[in-house]
Amino acid sequence: MTDIKQLETELVTKIDAANDLAALEEVRVGALGKKGVVSLQMKSLGKMSPEARKEMGPALNGLKARIGDAIEAKKAALEDAALDAALASEKIDVTLPPRPERLGKIHPVSQVTEEIVAIFSAMGFDVAEGPDIEDDFHNFTALNFPEDHPAREMHDTFFFEPKEDGSRMLLRTHTSPVQIRTMMAQKPPIRIIIPGRTFRCDSDQTHTPMFHQVEGLVIDKQAHMGHLKGTLEAFVKTFFEIDDVKTRFRPHFFPFTEPSAEMDIGYERVGNEIRFGQGDDWMEILGCGMVHPNVLKNCGLDPDEYQGFAWGMGVDRLAMLKYGIPDLRDFFASDARWLEHYGFDPLDPPNLATGLGK
Ligand code: DAH
Repeated sequence: MTDIKQLETELVTKIDAANDLAALEEVRVGALGKKGVVSLQMKSLGKMSPEARKEMGPALNGLKARIGDAIEAKKAALEDAALDAALASEKIDVTLPPRPERLGKIHPVSQVTEEIVAIFSAMGFDVAEGPDIEDDFHNFTALNFPEDHPAREMHDTFFFEPKEDGSRMLLRTHTSPVQIRTMMAQKPPIRIIIPGRTFRCDSDQTHTPMFHQVEGLVIDKQAHMGHLKGTLEAFVKTFFEIDDVKTRFRPHFFPFTEPSAEMDIGYERVGNEIRFGQGDDWMEILGCGMVHPNVLKNCGLDPDEYQGFAWGMGVDRLAMLKYGIPDLRDFFASDARWLEHYGFDPLDPPNLATGLGK
């Protein structure tokens, strides 16, 4: 019995001394493992006389239980201490200001999209979105492109493999199909802008197979060409941050608007720089017009009750013009140095109160 007392004292001392989980595990294996001291003693019970076993059995079982409990208690204490240490070392001060240089830069396309959204939000427009993969109906037919009309070819469309019924899905060639989706889903008055990706099979210094547009649509009982001009003039003044920008509307053709126009803004080239609001040169920046009655009908709206106007503009092109970026292909080259140079501060999103792009 004195042996057992002594063994217990020794083991308890070792348990107390174990100062990490690995050391404690070693003590456990040495005591209670298959070949541990306590286990070996238990095994020897079989060879004892019945009297000796009667005395030693309960004594050894008690020892085993107490040592097991002591190890468990120590293990819990060590785990608590490890957690406390981790919490202390990983403590973060949530009141610290962020480090802008670690946040990266906002891409000019995202920046300009946000600028456009900020301007039109202030005029009461909502943002609408639609799918990149479209069907022929939304991208062309409902927008009054006649079947086999060359206007469909103009778009250099990426088509998917034909389905069993012969119809082909396509990558939308413009954001105009979202006009259709919106008019079919909600009742006028409608005042939306539609930012999104668009696709055409084209690639050179000013064209990439994927590019970005923002579409605008206003449908109401009284929405006329004067509203269209006023809205777009207000937009370009705010966007380019010049009060005396000159604009002109040139007649044009789009199947989905009648009359249709392209809007130009006046500029002057000084060396490599383009200055808006001065000079005698004109630059086209968007297409627009009054929504064609057929388009309204295709969406279930009565052209005698409703009318409206729409426009579409290239975000990438607006970004190039506003921020003097020479080659469109660089937008999509994933070059971190380019982004460092042309990108924007993520902590300073565009808004009309503090300024658009700085
Ligand atoms: N969808 C035309 C394009 O991609 C742009 C456009 C022109 C959109 C006139 C319009 C519009 O809504 O009225 O070339």
